[in-house]
Amino acid sequence: MKGIVFTEFLDLVEDKFGLATVQEIIDQTELSTGGSYTAVGTYPFSEMLGLLKALSAKTSISIDDLLKVYAEHFFGVLVESYPQLIESYKDPIEMLSSIENHIHIEVRKIYSDAELPSFETLEKTNNKLIMIYRSSRAMYSFGLGLMHKTFESFDSKATILVEKIKDDGTEVKFSITKNE
Ligand code: HEM
Repeated sequence: MKGIVFTEFLDLVEDKFGLATVQEIIDQTELSTGGSYTAVGTYPFSEMLGLLKALSAKTSISIDDLLKVYAEHFFGVLVESYPQLIESYKDPIEMLSSIENHIHIEVRKIYSDAELPSFETLEKTNNKLIMIYRSSRAMYSFGLGLMHKTFESFDSKATILVEKIKDDGTEVKFSITKNE
């Protein structure tokens, strides 16, 4: 997992819960780095999961909810870092249906070792998109947060139904309907 995912996460935890909480979750998790990450480095996904579990235990917020809120923050980081990627789209459904064949392809050109999910489009119309998310990391709630922010960035809204195909969340169906 790319270091930027760790650094932005710890920044957000500091913002929302304070530095003491950052220190506490770092201390509770076995980390190869001792908790110091660089944005351009690459680190085991298990460390992110460990940090999320520790934060979830401390705050009583589910990992899914933490990932959703984190994704909403991370979307802003993506917009700042890769504005041209997002500006090439005029419509949220177009953008989301292009993650697999454009956006994440470009990401892989920048970071050859990025650990990205796959999205398979089952159905697409002007206001509806059905996609299957697949990833061993089961970060579908992160995807859900990014999807909501994608609509918001086009001054739009959507109803997004999330159905687990596999119980562990490694395969999930998203049914996205644009509201306005
Ligand atoms: C992960 C880039 C848009 C879904 C990532 C990672 C990067 C990235 C750098 C981390 C990879 C790693 O840690 O190795 C981008 C950029 C985007 C974009 C530059 C737009 C300009 C989206 C959107 C979605 C999405 C709109 C919506 C569903 C995900 C998910 C992950 C991820 C779910 C977590 C990894 C996993 O589930 O396996 N993306 N992304 N991305 N991205 Fe994107």
